[in-house]
Amino acid sequence: MTWTASQVAQQVAQLPKVELHCHVTGTLRPATLAALAGKYGLQLPRPVDQLYTYRDFYDFLEVLRLVALVLREQDDFERVAYEAIEDAYKTSNVRHIEMSFNPQYFIPSGAGYAAQVAGLVAGIEAAERDFPVSALLLASFDREWDAASAEETMDLILSHRHERVVGIGLDGPERAGPPAKFEAVYRRATQAGLKKTAHVCEDNQTLAEAPPSHLDACLDLLRCDRLDHGYNLMASDAAIARARDSGVYFAVCGITSVAANRERRLDAIGRMAAAGLNTTLNTDDPAMFHTDMAHTYQHVLDGLGWGWQEARQFSLSGVEACWLDPQAKADLRRDFQAQIVELEAQPA
Ligand code: ADE
Ligand code: ZN
Repeated sequence: MTWTASQVAQQVAQLPKVELHCHVTGTLRPATLAALAGKYGLQLPRPVDQLYTYRDFYDFLEVLRLVALVLREQDDFERVAYEAIEDAYKTSNVRHIEMSFNPQYFIPSGAGYAAQVAGLVAGIEAAERDFPVSALLLASFDREWDAASAEETMDLILSHRHERVVGIGLDGPERAGPPAKFEAVYRRATQAGLKKTAHVCEDNQTLAEAPPSHLDACLDLLRCDRLDHGYNLMASDAAIARARDSGVYFAVCGITSVAANRERRLDAIGRMAAAGLNTTLNTDDPAMFHTDMAHTYQHVLDGLGWGWQEARQFSLSGVEACWLDPQAKADLRRDFQAQIVELEAQPA
């Protein structure tokens, strides 16, 4: 391939992509956030452009939970899901997206679980009509809440079972909720045939707070099918070997909440790939991190000196790691391969 750097950037933007690690609350356009805050008479603590700048990881989590307070009615969830998919498709050619939502964030301000799902699904269905994209939902627990609250949320997930909600996740600060705390609730998910992921070994937590041993807990106790992040496990040769041998996919994110951590994040992503771990590339919280999938891909390629081959590999690994049913996954794989062949045929 003899494309120039700017041609590669254009091709990377057009590459079909799968987004597997994306929090609904992190996708709100600033204008949508302002409009919804206005609708409920909520005062934001600082202007939106400053709201999405964080002192540290914990400040970011506070803002994330604050933003969640503007989602109250079914229509709000519909709007936000639709806009998240529209943005992902239009900016980055995202063709399949798995979005996480935290039922626990919305229930206290009046949105019942069934209304949350109904709104998100309505937004997804409208977006699927307008754009060539598919979407699934993961219900996520904030690990800072206690295990009993996660159990109550699991009761709701199971009593309002919806085919779009295919799995569960675990987010928030790892130091406040090690994986073992959620073993029982994850066992119920396994029994119910739900897929499972969890944030683990996140690099904005210290090695003591988010140690490599959490990988074992996620695989053995939670029986996770996929994992989010994983960077801190690179501190342990045993964890690296386990991660590689397990074949588990890590949904890594190219941009992190605090700018000062970005170099370290890139370094970890490079080392995970070099060690032979299976990774997919994602945004985490696109609006809240001022990014999108195309920008995230380019950021990682530039930062690691990577090019088209690595971008192409991320595109296809997203397909392999996604939780579509086997037929839909095979169709998506074929579609991605065809799009890639077409992109590669474009003259330099
Ligand atoms: N919620 C949204 N993004 C998160 C992250 N990167 N880590 C933990 N919880 C989150
Ligand atoms: Zn996340």
